Amino acid sequence: MSMLEINHLTKDFGYNRGVFDISFKVEKGEVYGFLGPNGAGKSTTIRQIMGFIKPQKGKIVVNGMDAWRESAEIQKNLGYLPGEIALPENLTGTQFIKMMADLRGIKDFSHTNYLIEKFQLEPKGSLKRMSLGMKRKLAVVTAFMHDPDILVLDEPTSGLDPIMQQVFIDYIKEEKSKGKTILLSSHIFKEIDATCDKISMIREGKLISSFVADDLRHNTDKTFKLEFDDNLTYQSFLESIHENANLRIVGTKPKFNQVKVSYNDKDVNEFITVVSEFKLKFCSEIKFTLEDYFMSFYESSKREVK
Ligand SMILES: Nc1ncnc2c1ncn2[C@@H]1O[C@H](COP(=O)(O)OP(=O)(O)OP(=O)(O)O)[C@@H](O)[C@H]1O
Ligand SMILES: [Mg+2]
Repeated sequence: MSMLEINHLTKDFGYNRGVFDISFKVEKGEVYGFLGPNGAGKSTTIRQIMGFIKPQKGKIVVNGMDAWRESAEIQKNLGYLPGEIALPENLTGTQFIKMMADLRGIKDFSHTNYLIEKFQLEPKGSLKRMSLGMKRKLAVVTAFMHDPDILVLDEPTSGLDPIMQQVFIDYIKEEKSKGKTILLSSHIFKEIDATCDKISMIREGKLISSFVADDLRHNTDKTFKLEFDDNLTYQSFLESIHENANLRIVGTKPKFNQVKVSYNDKDVNEFITVVSEFKLKFCSEIKFTLEDYFMSFYESSKREVK
């Protein structure tokens, strides 16, 4: 059963801002990465999952319940870590933890204490004087103190130092191993790579790509860049490739007699046989990893900014 279903979600703020016809599903036990440049619509989507704002069109179902109408019931079993944290400044960390525990009806503090220890939270001081990182740790502890089955994390490690970022990644993995369902919005590749099963990419409010992370991690397609001695060799190589169904030309630079060729691992012998008939100047593999995909996504969105 899907724990989280987003169906044709639209929230139009005007001037092309908002989210438009977004659909994806997160299955039980999955860590789902939600990526996109600044202003793409991640937090807007997440706020609708939380029932803070009402979708204009479409529907969100969390654990079988409607995200807008049944948000109070949903939140009993959901932990939400917002991107921007606002805490009441007139309290100490300890008072805030107590207040949140009362609101949630928590009597057993063993999980809360476990989180305090894990994230090395020092809750005693006043929130007014707490460092940004310490406030984020407090937000983490109070977001997950009720040990929820669904975690919705909007850029959870921003403001945490590298050691604490790693502690957080470990926490996500630990929760996943317990069968929790996690939606994670992030700009940090390391975090995504270490945790996510599936990924959706959003740009300008529209979902542009959804895929299984392992498909890219264990990509069986290879790409090589070849340069030939002269233009005649380059031309005849192109002709021989055109006749071959298993080798694909993915780019050419005629001025430099260069070709980029892709093939699947199973066709490696064919690639070697064809290439060995031509005199090469050089040949190098172009590795395309999940990180390359991640970066090319950001770079192409940067280029599109007018
Ligand atoms: N309440 C609102 N009224 C009008 N426009 C809004 C509102 N909330 C968000 N927007 C706009 O909608 C777009 C998406 O914003 P959103 O906060 O969802 O982006 P994001 O993907 O979370 O970005 P970031 O990575 O910077 O957190 C932005 O252009 C933003 O200015
Ligand atoms: Mg955001």
